[in-house]
Amino acid sequence: MHFFMIDPATGKLIGTCPELNTTDVEKAIQAASEAFPSFRTTLARERARMLRRWYQLMMDNAEDLAKLITWENGKPFADAKGEVNYAASFFEWFSEEAPRAYGDVIPATVPGNRVMTLKQPVGVCGLITPWNFPAAMITRKIGPALAAGCTVVAKSPAETPFTANALAELAHRAGIPKGVVNIVTASKNTPAVGELITTHPEVRKVSFTGSTNVGRLLMKQASSTIKKVSWELGGNAPFIVFDDVEDLDAAVNGAIASKFRSSGQTCVCANRIYVQKGVYEEFSKRFAAKVKDFKLGAGFEEGITHGPVIHERAAEKVHEHVQDATSKGAKVLIGGQKASALGPNFYEPTVLSGMSKEMLLASEETFGPVAGLFPFETEKEVVDLANKAEVGLAGYFFSGNVRRIFRVAETLEVGMVGVNTGLISDVASPYVSFCPAICFFANSLLDSVVLSRVALAVRAASMVLMSSWLSRALLLVVWGSLCRHKTPQNIDI
Ligand code: SIN
Repeated sequence: MHFFMIDPATGKLIGTCPELNTTDVEKAIQAASEAFPSFRTTLARERARMLRRWYQLMMDNAEDLAKLITWENGKPFADAKGEVNYAASFFEWFSEEAPRAYGDVIPATVPGNRVMTLKQPVGVCGLITPWNFPAAMITRKIGPALAAGCTVVAKSPAETPFTANALAELAHRAGIPKGVVNIVTASKNTPAVGELITTHPEVRKVSFTGSTNVGRLLMKQASSTIKKVSWELGGNAPFIVFDDVEDLDAAVNGAIASKFRSSGQTCVCANRIYVQKGVYEEFSKRFAAKVKDFKLGAGFEEGITHGPVIHERAAEKVHEHVQDATSKGAKVLIGGQKASALGPNFYEPTVLSGMSKEMLLASEETFGPVAGLFPFETEKEVVDLANKAEVGLAGYFFSGNVRRIFRVAETLEVGMVGVNTGLISDVASPYVSFCPAICFFANSLLDSVVLSRVALAVRAASMVLMSSWLSRALLLVVWGSLCRHKTPQNIDI
């Protein structure tokens, strides 16, 4: 059985992909399980070299990988090339981390004893990845897994499986042993495959990036065998511009970059743009003027700045948010319609002003090319509004006041804060979220054991600051996720 792959820009058939069922995926888990005992004993330095070779092969084949990404995801070719660099950087980074999985020696309370902790690979990791970054989300998960000595079964997204398959071929060329990296493809069997991965006793850790609802279901399933989990779920990022912003154009550019990256289809995209009254009119004018210059079209066309959304359902959701906002008083500054002449998956980059908290966009992630501008008066008001969200992945704000910078950064209930920048994604930065009602979930496969010790430090530290006087600060890197902490043993020496 196969499923069909359709180009989201043209609606044309790209090709077909095997529709694997649970029996096939069981075999992949078995292969990963059989490869684990020997892979875990390879020298960390050797695993580092494998990852480094894989990184290099990605760079050598960057044009081809970018073509696949644009073809199956729709993003402009220049963005796809950027994604290949970003994706490869996870292999480069974790090739450098592999030999550094240090343990601890802790002073014991019993005379003559020493307490030592060792980090060891957890085993087979089940990775479930999304379509918005067909390469980067899979390398972000595989990199640390292999560095730690784990083997993986990765379920690629039904919308974008070819990039993942190409990465598997490069893994083979990089000399990664058979059974260590197993990529499984499925479309309609996705729920069954997800259930198998999250319940299989041989799978010791699951990492998932996707919607909050699916995350909830997978977490429930994973609890049956009490697996380690790392979830990166939905975002609804606030982006705040205060009156005391030093450079309004930088704030406009930051908001454009954050809101319209991948046509608004990233988990860290600004969703609610709050602008203080004193700069609201000017910000709106400059922001709309920039969006007017966008060139919408198929990703391979020359000069295109923004591509389609992934499918018609996504375009429908975007339109629903726009209609809801305008029916409640928002004004369309630019766009506001489907760009049907280009195809059913195109939506005009849209800017709405006069937004208010009753509108759908205020509480629901749009995941599309619509920027809603909300006016506000005071810092307290905007922080309360920003924190009124069920999820808290990223947040951004622009201000030139150093006291406010630290105050607001530490009050926003998000895992990552961009200060005076709209782009926070960096292989060096931990990828964490703060979910008020639930707990911390981490991407990059951060270890729940490690997180429980440094959770607050991670939230406060995962901050990217940019301004004329502060270049970039404090990024705490914790990657122990795939390492299980052995219960500290008292060793009589
Ligand atoms: C995501 O959208 O899930 C990831 C975005 C990023 O890494 O920048």
